[in-house]
Amino acid sequence: MQALREKIAAADGLVFATPEYNFSVSGVLKNVIDWASRPPDQPFNDKAVAIMGASGGVLGTPRAQYHLRQIGIFLNMRFVNKPEVFVGSAASKFDAAGNLTDETAKGLIKQLMAELVTWSNRLKKT
Ligand SMILES: Cc1cc2nc3c(=O)[nH]c(=O)nc-3n(C[C@H](O)[C@H](O)[C@H](O)COP(=O)(O)O)c2cc1C
Repeated sequence: MQALREKIAAADGLVFATPEYNFSVSGVLKNVIDWASRPPDQPFNDKAVAIMGASGGVLGTPRAQYHLRQIGIFLNMRFVNKPEVFVGSAASKFDAAGNLTDETAKGLIKQLMAELVTWSNRLKKT
């Protein structure tokens, strides 16, 4: 856990790619955030964060992503708001090797990563 905390603290930004479990994040993801966030010097503070998710359902993890944003409030995570990346019907958007093939989703992910870099640089200047 200490090694993970150090990696989070050293990162310019974080990307969460999460599935949706019963309209929320998985217990595993919540657990790792909880333990990594213990004081002193909780490493999520003021960190630029991007979220994306994919699921076999039509919507593509929005409820999990909004819960993750709520979880991050107390930890003072600084989320990128747009674009939102919800990859629904994921079975039709990846090839057999697991590569994303959907051009719309690829474009959104590129935009999200560009926004994360911009946001991280803005946070570092303040
Ligand atoms: C306990 C559990 C709850 C789930 N709940 C949701 C859900 O609320 N919404 C959704 O889109 N998918 C749900 N799923 C499907 C997950 O999106 C899917 O399992 C996840 O993308 C991982 O893919 P895999 O199970 O093929 O490894 C759930 C899966 C599990 C195991």
